[in-house]
Amino acid sequence: MAMAIFTSFWILLVAANLSGGRAQTVQMDSTKSGFVGAQVELRCLFVNSNPPVKISQVTWQKFVNGTKQNVAIANPTMGVSVLAPFKERVAFKQPAVRHRTPSLEDTTITFSNLRLSDEAAYICEYTTFPAGNRENMVNLTVFAQPVTRLTLTAPIIVARPQKHRMTVATCVSANGKPPSVITWETRLKGEATFQETHNANGTVTVHSSYTVVPTRDAHKQKLTCTVTYRKEKITESVVLNVQYEPEVFIEGFDGNWYLNRQNVQLTCMADANPPVTVYQWRLLNGSLPNVEIRNNSLFFKGPVTYDLAGTYVCDATNSVGTRSGQVEVNVTEYPNNPPPGGRDNPQEPQNPGAAIGGAVGGVALLGVAAGLLFVFLRRRQHTFKGDYSTKKHAFGNGYSKAGAGGAPPHPALPKSPQYPDDSDDEKKPPQIAPAAFEGGERDSEDTKRPYFTVEEAERREYDGRTLSFQYEPDAEITDDMVSQTDGSVISKKEWYV
Ligand SMILES: *[C@@H]1O[C@H](CO)[C@@H](O)[C@H](O)[C@H]1NC(C)=O
Ligand SMILES: *[C@@H]1O[C@H](CO)[C@@H](O)[C@H](O)[C@H]1NC(C)=O
Ligand SMILES: *[C@@H]1O[C@H](CO)[C@@H](O)[C@H](O)[C@H]1NC(C)=O
Ligand SMILES: *[C@@H]1O[C@H](CO)[C@@H](O)[C@H](O)[C@H]1NC(C)=O
Ligand SMILES: *[C@@H]1O[C@H](CO)[C@@H](O)[C@H](O)[C@H]1NC(C)=O
Ligand SMILES: *[C@@H]1O[C@H](CO)[C@@H](O)[C@H](O)[C@H]1NC(C)=O
Repeated sequence: MAMAIFTSFWILLVAANLSGGRAQTVQMDSTKSGFVGAQVELRCLFVNSNPPVKISQVTWQKFVNGTKQNVAIANPTMGVSVLAPFKERVAFKQPAVRHRTPSLEDTTITFSNLRLSDEAAYICEYTTFPAGNRENMVNLTVFAQPVTRLTLTAPIIVARPQKHRMTVATCVSANGKPPSVITWETRLKGEATFQETHNANGTVTVHSSYTVVPTRDAHKQKLTCTVTYRKEKITESVVLNVQYEPEVFIEGFDGNWYLNRQNVQLTCMADANPPVTVYQWRLLNGSLPNVEIRNNSLFFKGPVTYDLAGTYVCDATNSVGTRSGQVEVNVTEYPNNPPPGGRDNPQEPQNPGAAIGGAVGGVALLGVAAGLLFVFLRRRQHTFKGDYSTKKHAFGNGYSKAGAGGAPPHPALPKSPQYPDDSDDEKKPPQIAPAAFEGGERDSEDTKRPYFTVEEAERREYDGRTLSFQYEPDAEITDDMVSQTDGSVISKKEWYV
């Protein structure tokens, strides 16, 4: 089959050659192309297998819309002529064409500074004697490199709550021939629209817009436009700058704010573009407790108390708007999960004496310490009459008050509002006492109580009696006292008042 086709094709060629007497042919490229402004060579060769043949003239013609226009003529006697609109841009390549006795076998022309309007078919025609006219044709295509440009619609986009779609970027491939193809690449969810404009000069402008709903998520996202022009790929990228209201949340509440915990704070965190300029703190249905506000943080002064509980709101403002974050703070009596390292432990001993007590952890030892403390306080009383500690219980009550009042147990604890000035009523029994003592007859109970008031101790010494300090730790603690982790003991009554 293939053989048959080949054979018949060959026979046709030979037949044509013989019948037309075509020993002479004009050889040209069938197509040629060049860019605007560039230069091309349009080849034209006269091939003669049967000399002698006289070439009378060679004529180059532009063939467009069915009409022919002379471009250049080479005549062996008259010379060379390049016609009007091509004069500056068309020339015969071989110098021999212009010689006095020219050689016209190669009448290739160079076509420089191409224009779009040069796109046409070009005919190279040989007039010979005696063979007659021989001609061939080349189709010249002129390309125009497009100008590609990717632009953001606006340098800054503001994300509005309405969530309207908007065009954020435009990719244009202008005045290209042939037309380009535009594609987009991005992680943003959006839509591309395309539009082609055909110019009079044959070029095409391709225009594509990318539309998204501008949100916080779109901020800093990259958009890449790829323009495919012939086999060439041109890519350009832009990064979106989306401004949005602050996205606010409050850090610092770990759900474990217990009484006496120290150094608690809340921090208002906001993701915002542009950055937050104003942070404002509020407590819902209340006024802020004793806090220090520094930048976006709320530092609570002093240990945690029940007064801190509530819903804290932070209003963060940037140029786009104001948004709030809130946290509901509740305060518990004890830690949820006492940290193993005890780093945040409010019960941590605050002075060396208590530290030793805590380390040994023996309640009996505490009794000894209490005894020593008692003596110490008594001595102080001698030196500084009317001192605040005068009538406090040396053990138990005083401590429990301190504990409940929001500070770690400390023998030299300073003023506590619940304590009246002792100088007011020297004779009054201690205001708060464990149930065992309350209402009891002081003198008869003296030796059984686990504590004495300083006043009592002093009175005893003044009476000349030997101070007998009786203490039954286990029994007393199970009845009335709550053991603290640092080894101190406080009154149950105090805790549950
Ligand atoms: C070719 O013909 C078309 C209409 O027939 C016309 O619009 C166009 O301008 C012509 N081109 C040239 C180069 O003359
Ligand atoms: C060259 O152009 C002519 C007319 O414009 C057309 O008829 C012909 O098919 C083209 N030839 C090639 C090889 O493209
Ligand atoms: C083609 O036409 C467009 C629109 O008029 C023009 O901007 C562009 O420069 C032209 N291109 C060439 C190569 O002349
Ligand atoms: C305290 O707040 C935490 C965290 O918000 C919550 O899990 C817990 O149930 C609250 N406790 C009480 C008693 O409200
Ligand atoms: C706060 O007060 C408002 C009215 O002023 C009331 O509607 C709201 O229930 C209160 N919220 C709390 C948690 O008490
Ligand atoms: C508060 O902000 C300023 C400026 O940004 C900074 O220098 C300073 O360290 C901040 N203070 C605190 C307590 O974070």
